[in-house]
Amino acid sequence: MANPTKIPFLDLVTPHQQLEAELLTVVQKAFSNAGFIGGPMVEEFERNFAAFCDSKYCVGVNSGTDALRFALMAAGVEAGDIVLTVPHTFIATTEAISQAGGQIAFVDIDEKTYTLDPVKLQEFIEIRCEIDRKTGKLVDRASKRKVAGVIPVHLYGQTADMDPILELAARYNLFVIEDACQAHGAQYFSRKNNTWKRAGSMGQAAAFSFYPGKNLGACGDAGAITTSDAAMATRMRMMRDHGQAKKYYHDMEGYNGRLDAIQAGWLSVKLRHLAKWNEARRSLAHRYHELLAEATGAIVIPIEASWTKGVYHLYVVRVHDREALQTYLAEAGIGSGIHYPIPLHLQTAYQYLGHQKGDFPVTERIAAEIVSLPMFPQLTHSQQDEVASKVKEFAATQVASGRKS
Ligand SMILES: Cc1ncc(COP(=O)(O)O)c(C=O)c1O
Repeated sequence: MANPTKIPFLDLVTPHQQLEAELLTVVQKAFSNAGFIGGPMVEEFERNFAAFCDSKYCVGVNSGTDALRFALMAAGVEAGDIVLTVPHTFIATTEAISQAGGQIAFVDIDEKTYTLDPVKLQEFIEIRCEIDRKTGKLVDRASKRKVAGVIPVHLYGQTADMDPILELAARYNLFVIEDACQAHGAQYFSRKNNTWKRAGSMGQAAAFSFYPGKNLGACGDAGAITTSDAAMATRMRMMRDHGQAKKYYHDMEGYNGRLDAIQAGWLSVKLRHLAKWNEARRSLAHRYHELLAEATGAIVIPIEASWTKGVYHLYVVRVHDREALQTYLAEAGIGSGIHYPIPLHLQTAYQYLGHQKGDFPVTERIAAEIVSLPMFPQLTHSQQDEVASKVKEFAATQVASGRKS
């Protein structure tokens, strides 16, 4: 039986206790003027988060899912348009495609980085698609549907390899919406531009989630879209607020997708700590790399490609017998997670797409072997030592029984 948790997978209590006074001041401020929807606290957060992401505009919304949906709609997805993404992501990425009227098509991930494989993206475009003679647009050869865009997911806090993705998108006139829901502050070195770029500044728009456990988390649901395209920002602002730019003048139907003022105030408080928290995650990740180096016969540790500075939303290892590792850790009172156990193309919700086991082999291999270890900025070195020593103990049993990675 599992012991009581000594080391949680994620500690959300400590940071809120540490910031309690500042967070309560936000609530008092909102109570003093009853400004619960919109207003200066939302605008201040949007300004600061846009700057943090090296982006011109930020539109606060009520979740990462809505951020993706509004970004797709503002990018011009039309009914039946194909939007490409990976099967190794949280379902919100694909829910947003369907809910914006698009058609999901999957491209497998790279085995080292766990993000969209640009080579497979190119293969999809060049083998499965053609340019429609009448419209000049890229269409899927079989269904004749237009391919409108691509959503690279910056999974676990590491950016996808954006240079080749952006280049293909430019060549075939596709939009790029970054799913940056796990990558607040992650950076990408563009070989093409010889410069570091921030997650959220590379596509036409990017979606962020502030779900409480994210690197920047609200105290409830919240999200944001960043973009440097003024027209898109205006459309997304209207979409989140019933299609109105002026109260009760509705230029289109929209949604109730606004960011609450209190959440925005809390996010502003936490944003001031984000760079420091991300650094703490990076240094814990490097420490895990070192501590687990001798276990790499049985465990695959994350690889940080030379073109990314990850923010380690999650620290994900691969191991042959994932269940056994999780049980071993649970017995020692150590929490762990799986992100995500069932690839999207094999989910019941997507049976209608007609995929089978074997269609996206890298995703399938990874999904069967991944375990997320405790990772949060307040994780202490002694806690981390304990996690690592249990993982190493487990790895030794695997090597002894011949079950290597
Ligand atoms: C990769 C990814 N995309 C989208 C989302 C959706 O964000 P939210 O839960 O805020 O709607 C999440 C959040 O879990 C996510 O991890």
